[in-house]
This record gives sequence, structure tokens and C-alpha cells, in this order.
Amino acid sequence: MPNPSGPPGPDPSFAELLAVRPVLSLHAQDGLVMEDVPLAAIADAVGTPVWVYSAATIRRRYAELRAALAEAGLAAVIHYAVKANDRLAVLRLLAAEGAGADVVSGGELARALEAGIPPSRIVFSGVGKTPAEMKMALDQGVAQINVESAEELRILSAVAEEAGRKARIALRVNPDVDAKTHPKITTGLAENKFGIPFSEAASLYAEAARLPGLLPVGLAVHIGSQITSLAPFRFAFARLCELAQDLLARGLPLERLDCGGGLGISYRDEPALLPAAYAGVLKATLGGLGLPLIVEPGRWLVGPAGVLVASVVVEKASNAHRFVILDAGMNDLLRPALYGAWHGILPLSAADAAGSLSPAEVVGPVCETGDTFAKGRLLPRLAPGARVAILDAGAYGSVMSSFYNARPLAAEVMVAGGCWHVIRERASLSSLWAGERVPAFLQKAATS
Ligand code: LLP
Repeated sequence: MPNPSGPPGPDPSFAELLAVRPVLSLHAQDGLVMEDVPLAAIADAVGTPVWVYSAATIRRRYAELRAALAEAGLAAVIHYAVKANDRLAVLRLLAAEGAGADVVSGGELARALEAGIPPSRIVFSGVGKTPAEMKMALDQGVAQINVESAEELRILSAVAEEAGRKARIALRVNPDVDAKTHPKITTGLAENKFGIPFSEAASLYAEAARLPGLLPVGLAVHIGSQITSLAPFRFAFARLCELAQDLLARGLPLERLDCGGGLGISYRDEPALLPAAYAGVLKATLGGLGLPLIVEPGRWLVGPAGVLVASVVVEKASNAHRFVILDAGMNDLLRPALYGAWHGILPLSAADAAGSLSPAEVVGPVCETGDTFAKGRLLPRLAPGARVAILDAGAYGSVMSSFYNARPLAAEVMVAGGCWHVIRERASLSSLWAGERVPAFLQKAATS
């Protein structure tokens, strides 16, 4: 992921950004339009900042990935990684297309169930499941719990035994591969906290088969996120294949392989990872085993389907710097501040988009210098109230928002079939202190 000042080479132009994002188009009158709906109309009605997601894009991408897997002749099911965007409407949309879910907390499990995803299509992953979360997953009857350590394996067996259940488990192995992505979202290196060392996996799997509360059904691997080259996948899946063959040779039960997520998208000008190429790698490395596969994409399905629409509060010139201050901040979209992630930024108005460009720092209102969406970004002059769309914000956007600086969470909207629907209301001011209590000794003294 490039840093906010951008890697060498010019940023893509507005036209170049639009050309590879069929979900958006720029109209002379209506400005930036998503699926026939002018984004300005949504902003007029619900205010800014507002997240807007395209239902058709999510559906199209799901169908594209499913078709690529089927065309490669793979018996693969898609378990959407709920963490990327866990709004009920998004989950319901994907569930209706046939997707299962990959969840990593009791909260995500509850959301997936609330959205109507059957437990039989839910995998529970995560490096720190509490016994209470394990019990919840067992009581709900999830399809599989991905175990990340020998210690967790034994705890889960005890929890399952006490609950009078058998936990269907997969061992998540750590293939020690560099996914060539941002260090903060690399998960498959030996030094990372994730997974079971390869050398210990076979004997642990055998132990799992002997433990009273467990039923080992598979292996799992997830090497990181926003991966834009195939080589790390090829390496990880080849190792997974080796291990699977070893287990089968030992006569151990193995029903399926969970290949994780990680498919990258093109935020700036990274090569887009094509579903057919990804499916080809799965086929070449794991196809020979003839086992059913699970894939857990999050970002690839929903990232390009969303934008964050924000208004310009004011442009400020300071010490030869040009700051465009938005009403959205790092508390809304954290990715640039946390990872130095690059996101495209487009004016909503066609007239603005045609204006003459000069470099700007695009920042939010939060009281930190890190609250910066872009540096040196070529933008037209933007008057107070002018609006912009921050692109590719459908994944790891609203889910990572916070109330920092006491800023209510932004509204969320889904566009579908030429209409739009609020799928999450803007949080109210009183929601900022919902659940808080002021103890009696601090109650307001009666004024005399
Ligand atoms: N499966 C497991 C076990 C995971 O940990 C993840 C993501 C996924 C699947 C889905 O990965 P995806 O297909 O979305 O790459 N907040 C970061 C991304 C963190 C990803 C964490 N794990 C970001 O904004 O880039």
C-alpha cells in the first residue's frame, strides 16, 4: 500500500479512476452517479459524511468470483469475511446470493445469524476466541471452528465436552510466507501471531482426532490481506496441499480445506487480482486433492462497491500548504491514517471536476496530524459545501469507525435498482453517551 504522499509516478486522473470503476459515472448535470443514483441527492437528503454502497456491484463481484471458481472445476464455497463490512443489509445481500460467512467474534457471529446466514454456512476464525465465544459457536452449531494454537485446541475440547458437544475444527496453519502486503495486515509469516507452525500441524491434527470434544474436519490458511500478486497464494496453497497429503497418508479424516481471503483490489493503480487467475492457482495447487474448498474474501467483494461522501468544510492556505478540510475524518475512514493507504478522491460535481488542478492535502477535522486522507493530491478549488467521494471505501471503512473526538458515526446507504435506502442511520448526539452512567457521587449538585 503506498503512503498518503503516493509512490513515484503521477496519481491516476479523475478520468482514469472512473474508467476502471463501472459503478460510478460523472454526468454534466447530476455529477457523480452510482448505479443511476446521483450521490448528491443522497447527500442532500441524509447529509455528510455518508457511506454509500452499490448492491449491484457486490452482487456482480460475488457472481464473478463464484463463476471463476466453478469454471475452474472447483467445489469451492465462498464464506464472506464479515469483518470487511458487517452491516446487516450487506450480509443479507450476500446471503441471498448464497454466500456463507467467516466470523471472528461473538459479535460477528450474532450479526451473521441476525442477517439470516445459517450456522451450517458459518466458519468461526480468529486468534483469540474466548471460552464464551467458543460455547456460543458450539451452541449455534457453526460448520467449523478454525483453531490457531495447541493451547486453543485443548481449551476448545474442554469447552465442547462440558457443553456436551463435538466441535468440528480446522487447524489454521502458518505457512511462513511473505504476502508482500502492508506489514500490519500480513498474517502468514512465522513471526506473526497467527496459525500453527507448519512443523507441528500434523501431530496436532492427530491429537485433535483423539481429544474427546473435537472432530477435525480440515485445514485452514490465511496469509494476509490486500494481496495483489499470485505467488504468495501459490506458495501457501502448495504447502497446504503437502500437509493435506501427509494427513491423508496417516489415515486422518480430512473433509475440506479453507484457503482464507486476501484477494487485493486496485486502489490506485495496483494490478487487480483477477478471479480466474486466483481460481487457476487454487486448481493447480489444491485441485488434485479433490476436496471441497472454502474461500474467505472480504475486501474483494465489497471494497470497490462503496464510497465515503464528504463535504468540504473549508479550504485553508497555510505556509504555502493547501489544506482541503473535510467533514469526514480518521474516525470515519481510518485506513489512510493507519496504513498510509491511498484512496481515490473525486469531486461530486462535474463543474468542480473540470476545474483547474493544484496539489492539496486532504484532511479531516480530527485533532491529529495523522488525520490526513491524501497529500499532494491534485484537486480543483473546492468551495465550502462542495462534496467529494472517497473511493473504494466499502471494505474496512465504516467497520473501523470510532466516536473519537465525539463525532457521531456517519449514516450508511445502499443503492439498488435506481433507488437508495438508509441501511444505518446517522448516530445521534445522545448516542455518544448511550450506556454511560454518572455515579451518584458525581450527580449535579442542586443549584441554590
Ligand atoms: N479470513 C481471515 C482469517 C482474515 O483474518 C481476513 C482478514 C479475511 C479472511 C479477509 O481478508 P480480505 O479478503 O478482506 O483481504 N483492516 C485492514 C484489513 C485487515 C484484514 C484482516 N483479516 C485494511 O483496512 O486493509
